[in-house]
Amino acid sequence: MVKGLKRIGILTAGGDCPGLNAVIRAVTKSAMNGGLEVMGIEDGYLGLIENRLRLLSNTDVSDILTRGGTILGACNKANPAAYAVRQGDKWVQKDVRDQVIEHCRQAQLDALVVIGGDGTMNGAAELIARGLKIVGVPKTIDNDLYGTEITFGHNTAVSTATEALDRIHTTASSHHRVMVVELMGRYAGWIALNAGIASGADVILIPEIPFDINLVAEKCTQRSRFGKRFTIIAVAEGAAPKGGEQFVDSIDETSPDPIRLGGVGKFVADKVSEISGIESRVIVLGHIQRGGTPTPSDRLLATRFGYHAYELLEAGRFNRLAVIQNGRTGSIEISQVAGKIRTVPLDDRMIRAAKAIGTSFGDC
Ligand code: F6P
Repeated sequence: MVKGLKRIGILTAGGDCPGLNAVIRAVTKSAMNGGLEVMGIEDGYLGLIENRLRLLSNTDVSDILTRGGTILGACNKANPAAYAVRQGDKWVQKDVRDQVIEHCRQAQLDALVVIGGDGTMNGAAELIARGLKIVGVPKTIDNDLYGTEITFGHNTAVSTATEALDRIHTTASSHHRVMVVELMGRYAGWIALNAGIASGADVILIPEIPFDINLVAEKCTQRSRFGKRFTIIAVAEGAAPKGGEQFVDSIDETSPDPIRLGGVGKFVADKVSEISGIESRVIVLGHIQRGGTPTPSDRLLATRFGYHAYELLEAGRFNRLAVIQNGRTGSIEISQVAGKIRTVPLDDRMIRAAKAIGTSFGDC
């Protein structure tokens, strides 16, 4: 029996990603084997707000290691400190933390495991401020969570994006076209950088390096001149032209993070075609990057994080986020993470390696 704990709650908040079920399995099985009861909270923080919780059994968490998505459901719109409710014809944000704390008390939860990205950890920090005991597990395909060098889900997204870029390669070369593939990642370029390098993309555009569209078009023309009659461009949804703005697809007023990026791929394809005269196409990979079975690497990482979350609970080390730093498992205070993101450093070795090989980032 874990000292001071009888029952914990677990939730998956924010956008889903491959490996969530592997974490749920690792936390729940470790906790049950340690004598704890585990309540599954449905749809992230929304389930805490609406009081939707259920006791998990061993059967619930069996056979889920390889399954994408989350058996608990997810929601990226329900931060208890700023919960959007309809008032007349507009949305207003309400602090419903008291309601959440009351539901935790009724369910007799001694601590919570929250699996999520930066928005989730911001929400966790605000609940910790009201006295809840929380352990965090870092999730996101974007790999942009501050304090950890890797999040689970990223490897699977990179693998999916790489496969897409590989497939685009053959059709691009057959038709002598410029093919632009727009990838997710929000304000960080990790997916485009890693998948771009892994697939040998000729141009990689990321939010951290504003691009000059003339230089991108010039790269395509140059390749044609040297007999390579096609170009593959991997562009992160957050990439923006020098002196310009990021491309916003829509605004979701009900979300604490309302901006949905999108559209830069079409801008790049249209402009390159206009400047260079080479026929271009755009592919927006979208939520395919979030779906499907996790790679073995993500299954391992998810299990490692899930077990460490249990170790933190067992040791009574609350309000910490499990992280990987310098390849080692550890933890940091959740309050250290709140409000920050981890973007690609400009001196990243992989950027240097790609540039040395001749990949263009549209900046020189
Ligand atoms: O954070 C994960 C992510 O997939 C981002 O890469 C993307 O910008 C965003 O979520 C999309 O959000 P939604 O699922 O609300 O469209």
